[in-house]
Amino acid sequence: MTQIKAFIFDMDGVLTETNVQHYEAWKILGDEIGIEINPSFNERLKGISRMASLNEILTFGGKQEDYTQAEKEQLATKKNDNYVKMIASMTPDHLFEGVKELFKQLKERNIKIAIGSASKNAPKLVKYLGIEEDIHYIVDANEIEKGKPAPDTFLAAAQAFGLKPEECIGVEDATAGVQAIKSAGMFAIGIGEPQVLSQADTVYKETKDINLEEILTRDNVLVV
Ligand code: BG6
Ligand code: MG
Repeated sequence: MTQIKAFIFDMDGVLTETNVQHYEAWKILGDEIGIEINPSFNERLKGISRMASLNEILTFGGKQEDYTQAEKEQLATKKNDNYVKMIASMTPDHLFEGVKELFKQLKERNIKIAIGSASKNAPKLVKYLGIEEDIHYIVDANEIEKGKPAPDTFLAAAQAFGLKPEECIGVEDATAGVQAIKSAGMFAIGIGEPQVLSQADTVYKETKDINLEEILTRDNVLVV
């Protein structure tokens, strides 16, 4: 039995709906460089870093050898400029239903709250969504050498709190993210479809469906 001391939340698709804006911004860039992406391909981009996403898109379009690293950096910046404009109008109203309540329940139990997002825009979103006061630690995606599905993002949060992986629970909507939580040795809550997030320990359709009591009373986790 392990006492759970921290929850590490992914941001995009777990706390708010930014997958749409990421997709739109990539789609605009794809159109510019002659690669048409679609929603089903977009599943592959969820959870992975900006450059990893661009590489996936270039490979999908058979153009992986067409750009130098410097040109790729420019393309990624272009996508990000559009994305940043798209999210600039976000407010606390865009926080998913149930998140505030969940944070409250975690705080009541002295469980720490971290953001473990691949997005370099996560601190900006935390501000727009008005949850700065709720978050004890935000993993800096700039400092993470190996992005999801590698465990580094989640381990960085555990380390910041001085906790063992088994004392942390990760929450993710992306396959790559669930893989990252599991390879970090943590309990994984998936948000979405069980068939897609088959590696997760438990899956809820939406963040608001997370049942803290149910999770913390499982026989492999314990909160005192
Ligand atoms: C992840 C998203 O959270 O962050 C990906 O699921 C995104 O779609 C990645 O590409 C990186 O985000 P950013 O804001 O640093 O480009
Ligand atoms: Mg996500």
